[in-house]
Amino acid sequence: MIKESEYIKVLDDNTIEINLPSELGYERIAMDCSASFAKIVGFLPERIEDLKTAVSEACINAMEHGNKNHPDNRVVVNMNYSDHVFTVTVMDQGEGLQVSFDEMEPPDITKKINNLQTPRGLGLFLIKQLVDQVEFNKVSNEGHIIRMVLKLVK
Ligand SMILES: Nc1ncnc2c1ncn2[C@@H]1O[C@H](COP(=O)(O)OP(=O)(O)OP(=O)(O)O)[C@@H](O)[C@H]1O
Ligand SMILES: [Mg+2]
Repeated sequence: MIKESEYIKVLDDNTIEINLPSELGYERIAMDCSASFAKIVGFLPERIEDLKTAVSEACINAMEHGNKNHPDNRVVVNMNYSDHVFTVTVMDQGEGLQVSFDEMEPPDITKKINNLQTPRGLGLFLIKQLVDQVEFNKVSNEGHIIRMVLKLVK
């Protein structure tokens, strides 16, 4: 059992870490926290919206695909801002993507409307569009990580 004080940690002046259960809805804590942090360091509102969407998609994937919606499996969201770069990692306790991102069929809205493609399969492509850099599928002993980077343009 994790103590309440351990859910959100300020690791240092540049780094905040959030530890969430795998329950839909908790991703909003990561969205709101990343938005507040990005606002403090100077990101514009429209870029913050991009960040929130990317964080939300990554957290929902971590809960659903990584942790199989098992509430006790944690999603750890780490946010760091240094040298005008905002980096968010989302870690789950799963084994990562079974098909590499490059091999996934890109979403095609016409196909989706005509039931020729699953209505899902949007999250990773959305993330790719919204952030400046993304690394899918870093797998270690601790779990699987997606790493997303947004650069602050002054
Ligand atoms: N954290 C993860 N761990 C394991 N597999 C993942 C993870 N994130 C994504 N995937 C795999 O990549 C696929 C594509 O993810 P993506 O978010 O694009 O679509 P989705 O989650 O299936 O649907 P949507 O996001 O549109 O609701 C998933 O179906 C899943 O197989
Ligand atoms: Mg998804």
